[in-house]
Amino acid sequence: MKQQVNEAKGKLGILIPGLGAVATTLIAGVAGINKGYSKPIGSVSQLSRIRLGKRTEDRNPLIKDFVPLAKLEDIVFGGWDVYADNVFEAASKARVLEPYQLEQVRAELEQIKPMKAVFDRNFVKNLDGQHIKEGFTRRALADAVQADIQNFKKENNCDRIVVLWCGSTEKYIEGNAIFDSLKNFEDALDQNDLRIPPSMIYAYAALKQGAPYVNGAPNLSCDVPAIVELAQLMQVAIAGKDFKTGQTLMKTIVAPGLQARALGVEGWFSTNILGNRDGLVLDDPENFKTKEVSKLSVLEEILDAKKNPELYGNLYHKVRINYYPPHGDNKESWDNIDIFGWMGYKMQIKINFLCRDSILAAPVALDLALFIDLAQRAGMFGIQEWLSFYLKSPQTAPGLPPEHDIFKQLIKLQNTLRHMMGEDLITHLGLDYYQELVDSM
Ligand SMILES: NC(=O)c1ccc[n+]([C@@H]2O[C@H](COP(=O)([O-])OP(=O)(O)OC[C@H]3O[C@@H](n4cnc5c(N)ncnc54)[C@H](O)[C@@H]3O)[C@@H](O)[C@H]2O)c1
Repeated sequence: MKQQVNEAKGKLGILIPGLGAVATTLIAGVAGINKGYSKPIGSVSQLSRIRLGKRTEDRNPLIKDFVPLAKLEDIVFGGWDVYADNVFEAASKARVLEPYQLEQVRAELEQIKPMKAVFDRNFVKNLDGQHIKEGFTRRALADAVQADIQNFKKENNCDRIVVLWCGSTEKYIEGNAIFDSLKNFEDALDQNDLRIPPSMIYAYAALKQGAPYVNGAPNLSCDVPAIVELAQLMQVAIAGKDFKTGQTLMKTIVAPGLQARALGVEGWFSTNILGNRDGLVLDDPENFKTKEVSKLSVLEEILDAKKNPELYGNLYHKVRINYYPPHGDNKESWDNIDIFGWMGYKMQIKINFLCRDSILAAPVALDLALFIDLAQRAGMFGIQEWLSFYLKSPQTAPGLPPEHDIFKQLIKLQNTLRHMMGEDLITHLGLDYYQELVDSM
């Protein structure tokens, strides 16, 4: 049955807390694509096709032609940052894109100036920006961000807003009673409880304004019961956590393959060097801890020691991130995988990925923003687990283990789109083709 999906009419405002490397690469890329300088490579929503019906029907439209997504020309970007640089200046400092490419879209980027951030250095020690809302209580900050969203929407004549967290990774925090229910959370806001991290204030403000919220970093943000409750109450879509790029992308491509062929894995050592501002923030052990938890969870689920103790019972998994300024955004990662096969014979796989972090992250951020806007227009609210495909540590319903295998995640994403549009779900069983053959004889 086809769901009622409202049209994507008018402009879509994408408001981003954190106009750093990922966000500015996204914004410059969309501006370049709209001017015909580049193509949306890496964006599944723009360039991938989806099979509909039987293989013999040969119906394979582009996803963007199948579901009513916002058009790239209809996107208006804005955001907040702790530094006052406009997006052209921030992109130049991030040194992801070549200067000539930034010049091509200079005017578009220069006009996007960050709003003052909600920031607390207790959550990100290694940043010293001064472009912040000062002298506010936690409650007043939530009100101020809501006012920012309303003003932006009005000034830019937007039909809808999506808020996309691309801010730095905040320090690791454990669950706490103040996050356990919306009532506790709102009481804590009123009492100016400084244990509330800035990212949760953005999430709270977005949902109060009816704007879907995506969390691209590993900090909890919208992944606590209080914010999930608010999303249900306001009937707004949320998704998180942590863009799946680089080393973890490789892990969720390779590990399902090994698991699918019942090969054993006894060790997986991952290390990488990167020298961007993200790397600087993650150089602090408290912030690294948040990232580590997100990165470690992936293998435990795919290579499940409980289900297959003989294959994964002794798996040793280690993840290291090293801040190394000379490489900037060009992260280099090394994986050493110790596997074993028939009769226990040992083998090794080495992966050396010279990647570009923000080049991989930008299309992921774009797709997440476009798809969560679609979900909202389709009346889907609360946690959007079908967007796990893009996320390192997918947010799921309480008690529901996340699915990390990228191929299962892709099937889930595609079937969700088919379901939305009233097309048959595809099980890949395929026996009917052979039955038809028998019937035709
Ligand atoms: N690049 C990737 O491939 C990738 C992958 C997964 C996750 N991430 C996460 O995405 C986030 C962004 O990555 P990046 O490489 O763009 O980092 P970045 O350091 O270049 O940008 C982050 C920006 O957020 C700003 N910021 C920090 N706290 C803020 C706040 N409270 N309000 C507003 N702005 C704030 C910083 O000033 C900075 O400009 C990080 O958390 C990172 O861990 C990145």
